[in-house]
Amino acid sequence: MSLIEDLQWRYATKKMNGNTVPKEKLDYILEAARLAPSSSGLQPYQVFVISNKALQEKIKTVAWDQSQIIDASHVLVFAAWDGYTEEKIKSVFDKTLDERGLPHETMDDYRKNIWGLYEPLGQAWQAQHAAKQAYISFGLAIAAAAEQKVDATPMEGFLPPKVDELLELDKLGLKSALILALGYRDEENDWLVNMKKVRTAKEDFVTELK
Ligand SMILES: Cc1cc2nc3c(=O)[nH]c(=O)nc-3n(C[C@H](O)[C@H](O)[C@H](O)COP(=O)(O)O)c2cc1C
Repeated sequence: MSLIEDLQWRYATKKMNGNTVPKEKLDYILEAARLAPSSSGLQPYQVFVISNKALQEKIKTVAWDQSQIIDASHVLVFAAWDGYTEEKIKSVFDKTLDERGLPHETMDDYRKNIWGLYEPLGQAWQAQHAAKQAYISFGLAIAAAAEQKVDATPMEGFLPPKVDELLELDKLGLKSALILALGYRDEENDWLVNMKKVRTAKEDFVTELK
């Protein structure tokens, strides 16, 4: 199947059947998320993989009681840095340079430049910028799930501060940004399963400037 066919097949599953996603498919989806590009390669986010029903139940109560949270095989929480520091940026760059066998000074000017841009914009802007990077990873995870014929519900419908509390994300300098419930559609009971996929028409979506 082509990527386009996979994207036609997927939908934001409203009712899942509780079946388990095999480890190799889960790993594939997580690998796609890990390989996502990010601004300056900082990858200012992490993914928490939850398959603990008691914890899923707690998350559901702060996610508008959405049933997918409990019927999912795995609940992925994408959590982004709550801000940048020059040290954090340096440590990512140093690791990249180490892996490439280059001296740490190679990126000094670039690091000073971006920190010069980010620092004055403040912590709230930085947290939002980091969360925007997490969305790219999230999008790739959604596409990878579709390729693996794993259903997924992208979710912003939850209270981030409550999820942060449940996962103790503040201790890690993280804030929850997004949830991706992974599992399998309950064909009999999902009202959305056979609905037409509706998108902005191509002519309204794409503007060609030649
Ligand atoms: C960032 C984001 C947040 C979303 N939050 C929710 C959510 O909390 N619950 C839900 O059932 N669907 C949620 N959706 C699903 C969208 O409503 C859905 O993707 C959109 O209507 C397009 O339909 P489709 O994904 O079925 O093609 C979300 C989607 C995205 C991308």
